[in-house]
Amino acid sequence: MDRYVYEDLYREMEAALDEGDPDVSVLSNAAAVLYHGLERINWAGFYLRDEEALWLGPFQGKPACVRIALGKGVCGTAAAEKRTVLVEDVHRFAGHIACDAASRSEIVVPLYREGEVIAVLDIDSPEEGRFGREDQEGLERIAGLIQSALALARPQNPAAPGGSLGGIFGPGGFEPGGAESEAGRRETR
Ligand code: SME
Repeated sequence: MDRYVYEDLYREMEAALDEGDPDVSVLSNAAAVLYHGLERINWAGFYLRDEEALWLGPFQGKPACVRIALGKGVCGTAAAEKRTVLVEDVHRFAGHIACDAASRSEIVVPLYREGEVIAVLDIDSPEEGRFGREDQEGLERIAGLIQSALALARPQNPAAPGGSLGGIFGPGGFEPGGAESEAGRRETR
């Protein structure tokens, strides 16, 4: 059944994203599509990576912690180990960072640029064991789609050496095409 949910969600995501859009807009709409398209979840959003940490990006849900060190929490573990981390019961994940006390299970899927993690997609649920294999497969496919719409994920993007946040938060991050565009190389006005 979940497979059909993810097929619909994939199509909805395709329709919502445009790779010419600024990264912050892509991630904002992606978070909204996931938050409203999935049942029994209480948080969906992104953390963006720089050299030393993950920083809160566009999301839907309750306010969340802003900075997560690489290797810490579920998000930092997924980023450091370059793999999806699926947590059936957050109370049994050592080092889990509780942003919303209602969260009981969680899945974190990395997004990459040339094999380096540039961001993670994080989804929380108030239900224990909410996410399984089909969720992982569906969300990894959707994460790939989101990644392909991000200027930050493009190899030629000079603002993102090793996964810098420049493409979204730096000069040009809010220009269509992100830091890769001509506008992106101009000074901020
Ligand atoms: N639980 C996450 C922190 C982010 S919030 O869930 C939105 C973690 O342990 O990394």
